[in-house]
Amino acid sequence: MLNGRPARVPRAIYPGSFDPPTNGHLDVIERASKYFSELIVAVVVNPQKREPMFTLEDREEMIRKCVAHLANVRVEHFRGLLADYVKSLEADVIVKGLRVVSDFENEMSTALMNRALSDVDTMFLMSDQKYSFVSSSIVKEVFFLGGDVAALVPDPVMRVMATKRATLRK
Ligand code: PNS
Repeated sequence: MLNGRPARVPRAIYPGSFDPPTNGHLDVIERASKYFSELIVAVVVNPQKREPMFTLEDREEMIRKCVAHLANVRVEHFRGLLADYVKSLEADVIVKGLRVVSDFENEMSTALMNRALSDVDTMFLMSDQKYSFVSSSIVKEVFFLGGDVAALVPDPVMRVMATKRATLRK
């Protein structure tokens, strides 16, 4: 429900690498979940950019713990083209977060390509400004060099990261 009225768009997909999920991701998920009847957080199996630090299982599990309070959110994963996955789920819209203006350059071409491939639009939510500098990459770098990122990631993510750091130090 949004302002007491039923949400108009039934099924949205929020895709990402989530390596790891951050408070910025969770903020987008919480806000998007108010606009759509059903929000599927879709973890890409193999991010193009790099080998993920966290396994697919860890990434899915971290998100599941973070969204347990949101009844209309579920977590899945996908391989290959997002457009094919979106079509297979008969989703109505793709959701993306924008932190800063430079995010838009890449996201614009991606959104246009995804629409060309699947006829599904992408809707953007501006990240809360307190998370505009927060990315999975910067969180990983700071944490694994000993910095404090507790304010930037949800508690379940912090715990998995701490376990990972302990494993890497052995
Ligand atoms: O969290 P990220 O790494 O910014 O998410 C990027 C993601 C997973 C949304 C993007 O890489 C993606 O959609 N990958 C699936 C492959 C694909 O469809 N590529 C063509 C995009 S036009």
